[in-house]
Amino acid sequence: MDIATIVLSAGKGTRMNSEIPKVLHKVLGKEIILWSNEAIKNFENKFFVIGHQHELVKDYISNESQAIVQEEQLGTGHALSVVFNDESFLSKTYDYVLVIPGDVPLIQEEILNSLISKVVTSKASIGFVVSSVKESFGYGRVIIDKEDNVLKIVEEKDASNEEKKINLINSGIYCFGYEFIKNHIGQLSDVNEQKEFYLTDLIELGFNKKEKILVVESSEVSIMGINSMDQLHNLEREAREIIINMHIDNGVYFQDSSTAYIDDGVSIGSGTKILANTHLLGNTVVGENCTIGPNTMISDSDIGSRSKVLYSVVSESSTKEEVQIGPYAHLRPGSNLGSNVKVGAFAETKKSNIGDGSKVPHLAYVGDGEIEGNVNFSAGAITVNYDGENKNKTIIKEGAFIGSDVMLVAPVTIGEGAVI
Ligand code: UD1
Ligand code: MG
Repeated sequence: MDIATIVLSAGKGTRMNSEIPKVLHKVLGKEIILWSNEAIKNFENKFFVIGHQHELVKDYISNESQAIVQEEQLGTGHALSVVFNDESFLSKTYDYVLVIPGDVPLIQEEILNSLISKVVTSKASIGFVVSSVKESFGYGRVIIDKEDNVLKIVEEKDASNEEKKINLINSGIYCFGYEFIKNHIGQLSDVNEQKEFYLTDLIELGFNKKEKILVVESSEVSIMGINSMDQLHNLEREAREIIINMHIDNGVYFQDSSTAYIDDGVSIGSGTKILANTHLLGNTVVGENCTIGPNTMISDSDIGSRSKVLYSVVSESSTKEEVQIGPYAHLRPGSNLGSNVKVGAFAETKKSNIGDGSKVPHLAYVGDGEIEGNVNFSAGAITVNYDGENKNKTIIKEGAFIGSDVMLVAPVTIGEGAVI
């Protein structure tokens, strides 16, 4: 069974009122287009239709997918017709074509698989995913007659007042017979309120040609589309809850999940406590039995098990187990702490390795430092790492004691067990 998967992501996203192309807005730290990529990661023959600011969007398309440019965005039907006129796409034929909108980030792989298998087993020409939603405004309404025949999809702007009351909506996820599209894509017209070629008109065309059409029902949250900042806001709230519930199921405690911001892809070990106002962002890994927060932001960092981080900011850094960070510490990129290290109040570190058992307990700056284990770096001590032109290294050997108010003018090396 050969299936081509086509993601439509060429639209401008006018309703977002933003300069950024719609599919590059982020949901829980990840661009919308990457969510689509994730949903289809196990599929082959992938094509992304890109258009508006395509030079920016193309960088987000995975290597095994192909980009097809829709120069002028004349509607979803037009986007599909561009694919069916593209030589690289036509160089192979398929049995079925899966079409998904690029602005529906929470699409689940399971729903795509169940749509495909239903279409294939019942030899339908068209199958698409629908959902009964509370607020149908903006979506295409699905018109089904008393005999359960799927007649057509009517877009919001073209719908009569009666049709607008329908709450069964089109998700924009379809599986078509390849031949069906090939034979009918040229028949779409743009005679409608938006003067666009609607992909959804293929349903009515199919019905008129007595083709077999079926629908698969999905939960509302997994087909929520993003067309406006308001929808982005609502979807992100739903997505946040899904992710936090997943961590809770894995044994993570949340003091107040309404103030926890956990990006997609963050990993948290069981037994860890996430206290109020904690942001765990990007590629962050937190070990087991840690206490993180309150009021902490950790991004792209790796925190070892049994560590405590409170009232602090940590970026692009890593720690071994049982470290104590904060209150009010700032670990800037490239800070790597060994086990049992303490970086305390009003201490800042940058691009430094701090060995096992070393302490920077308060009011200190460590930049470009190679600090071995069991070093005490007292209050008011700093590395003077920048001479106005170059950044220089400070090396402090095992067990050295750096007293209060010491300026270590780099490059400088302090020997093992030295007392300054
Ligand atoms: C579309 C459907 C609607 C459905 C909804 C689900 C049509 C006509 N309507 O409406 O029935 O309920 O999705 O979310 O299809 N795009 C292109 N090229 C274009 C136009 C759009 O690639 O010329 C892409 C967009 O980038 C977007 C997707 O197609 O990712 C859907 O387009 P959008 O304008 O968001 O359609 P909706 O109004 O949401
Ligand atoms: Mg949309």
